[in-house]
Amino acid sequence: LKSLRRFVFQMTGSSFPTLCETDEGKACVIKMKGAGNGPRSLISEFVVNETAGALGWPVPQVFPIEIPPNFPWSFGTDEFDDLVKKSFGVNLGFELIPEAKTLTLPETQKLSGEFKSILIALDLFFVNFDRTAKSQNILQDKDGQNWIIDHGSCLALQTTRSFPFGLPPDHIFASYPRELAPLIREKLQMLVEFADYVEIFEKIPMEWLTESGLLLADLRKNWLWQRQEAAAFSL
Ligand SMILES: Nc1ncnc2c1ncn2[C@@H]1O[C@H](COP(=O)(O)OP(=O)(O)OP(=O)(O)O)[C@@H](O)[C@H]1O
Ligand SMILES: [Mg+2]
Repeated sequence: LKSLRRFVFQMTGSSFPTLCETDEGKACVIKMKGAGNGPRSLISEFVVNETAGALGWPVPQVFPIEIPPNFPWSFGTDEFDDLVKKSFGVNLGFELIPEAKTLTLPETQKLSGEFKSILIALDLFFVNFDRTAKSQNILQDKDGQNWIIDHGSCLALQTTRSFPFGLPPDHIFASYPRELAPLIREKLQMLVEFADYVEIFEKIPMEWLTESGLLLADLRKNWLWQRQEAAAFSL
């Protein structure tokens, strides 16, 4: 398990993503379980990024990272330090996307069909409600490569309810062109056939499950349901 050495810079985001350094001296972004939706968001980030990463899709790598108990005050405001105190234990680290910038809305609309279809399939499959004009959650690195980020609001992995299959009306690609449909089906098929979900579920840090009150059995049930819906769509 990696461990936090120091906080470096607080980024802009409702879940207080923060640039930090691991005990091995590597830079990464940390999201803490003490923020907002806490461990539920971390579970959702973890499962979606692990799945997409295994399929070779452009998401940052994720890994659990420990904030050692009694990590001393060292950075930011009192509010930030309260968050750190609430987050002693296992949190989530993200590979740093170097010199990342956010795209403008017109730039987003010009992304390739391949990229859009991956993003749409992920958001459909995991019921992501957080991909709006205000919060597109797509980054471009210094080499011009685009990355899909922020999977902390994927409802299929946060609740025990099931959801109708479809993009929310305020999704940036809610009205995608019809020619994209075959590409989206192809990506959904990959998500339906992906064989390692259970292995990923089993890697979810136990304390996130305990603290969020989510049961692995419920996660599996919802995911199975989404998988059936996706399978029906992609026929
Ligand atoms: N892996 C990363 N590499 C570099 N920068 C990142 C990374 N993850 C997040 N960021 C930066 O932090 C910002 C917020 O990230 P993200 O959208 O994941 O957080 P959030 O708190 O969930 O956001 P929101 O305000 O949309 O709820 C991004 O726009 C980006 O600038
Ligand atoms: Mg965001």
